[in-house]
Amino acid sequence: MILVTGCSGFIGFHLAKKLLEKKKSILGIDIIDNYYSKSKKIQRLNIIKKFDNFNFLKVDLNNFDKLRKIINKYPIDTIIHLAAQPGVRISLSNPFNTLKQNLTAFINVLEIARLKKVKKFIYASSSSVYGNSKIYPFNEQDFENIPVSVYGSTKLSNEIIADAYSRNFNINSIGLRFFTVYGPHGRPDMAYYSFLDNLRKNLPIQVFNKGNMMRDFTYIDDVVLGIVKVIKTKFKKKHEILNIGKGKPDKLMDLIKYLEKFYKKKFKIKFTKNIPIGDIKNTFSNTSKAKKIIKWIPKVNLENGIEKFVKWYKLDNGIK
Ligand SMILES: NC(=O)c1ccc[n+]([C@@H]2O[C@H](COP(=O)([O-])OP(=O)(O)OC[C@H]3O[C@@H](n4cnc5c(N)ncnc54)[C@H](O)[C@@H]3O)[C@@H](O)[C@H]2O)c1
Repeated sequence: MILVTGCSGFIGFHLAKKLLEKKKSILGIDIIDNYYSKSKKIQRLNIIKKFDNFNFLKVDLNNFDKLRKIINKYPIDTIIHLAAQPGVRISLSNPFNTLKQNLTAFINVLEIARLKKVKKFIYASSSSVYGNSKIYPFNEQDFENIPVSVYGSTKLSNEIIADAYSRNFNINSIGLRFFTVYGPHGRPDMAYYSFLDNLRKNLPIQVFNKGNMMRDFTYIDDVVLGIVKVIKTKFKKKHEILNIGKGKPDKLMDLIKYLEKFYKKKFKIKFTKNIPIGDIKNTFSNTSKAKKIIKWIPKVNLENGIEKFVKWYKLDNGIK
C-alpha cells in the first residue's frame, strides 16, 4: 500500500488518481488546510474518493501520536510525502507555519517511514533550494545553492534530514526538486492561475521585473509520470535527489501570451521594476540525472500545457 500525504493538494491529487487508475492501493492523508480555497481541495478529494482502492484519513501530520496509531492499521510499504506549506511569499510573512508544516511534519512522516520500514520514502523538494544560483541550468550537484526564502530553506533542510535518516536507518529516500508545476486542478495561488482569475474578473495583473523573468514550467502529467517512474526504479544510492523540471525555461511574457491566446482576451498589465523578496529571477533545471536514472523525459511544452489548463479552467468556471 502506498501512502500519499497531501492527497487533496494539486500534485498529490493527480498522483493519487494516476496510481488508483493503475489499481494500486492508496492511503491518502490531508488536513485540507486553508492556504487556498478549501473547496478546491474538497473538489479534488471527491474525485479520488470514488475509487474503491482509496482510503482517506483527515489527519494533521503534526499530531504524531494520532498519526502513528492510525498508520499502524495499514500495510504501507511506500511513502510519497507531498503535504507541505508551499509558497515562497507566505514563508516570509508567516515563517512559523512554514516551519511547522515543512519541518516538524516532515520529521513525523520520516519517523513513520522508519517505524514501518518502508521500501521507499519519496518526498517533495523544490527548485527554490537553488536560490539565485547563476549556474544554469541548475544541477543537483550544485553546492552553491543558498535558498533566498524560508520556504526554500525548509526544502533544503528536508534533503539534509532525509539524508541523515537514510544513512542511520537504512531508508531508501528520493527527494524530488519540482520546478513550477502547473495544469488542470492547479493551485490558485500560483501566477499562471491567479493571472487567469484576474483576466476573468477584468482585473489588472502585476508583472515584476518588467516581465524579465523565466520559469521552467513543468506540466502536471509529466510530473506524475516522473513520480511513477521513481516508484518503479531500483536506485543504487540510499538517498538520491532529482530535478523534476521540463529543462526548457519559458519567458513569463510567453505564459501571458498563451493565456491570452487560449482565453481569447487581452490582459491589463502593470509592470513593476522590483522582484518580490524571496522570489527567484529565473529557474532552469538540468534534467540529465532524471533522464539517466529514471529514464524520464518531459514532453508537454508550455503552449500545449496552458491550452489544457485554460480548457479545464473554463469548464470549472462554467465559461463556454
Ligand atoms: N506545485 C509546484 O509548483 C511545486 C513546486 C515545488 C515544490 N512543490 C512541493 O510539492 C508538494 C505538493 O505541492 P502542491 O502544489 O500540490 O501543494 P498543495 O498546497 O496543493 O498541496 C499540499 C497539501 O498538503 C496538505 N497539508 C499541509 N499541511 C498538512 C498537514 N500538517 N497534515 C496533512 N496535510 C497537510 C494541504 O492541505 C494541501 O492539500 C509540496 O511539498 C510543495 O512544497 C510544489
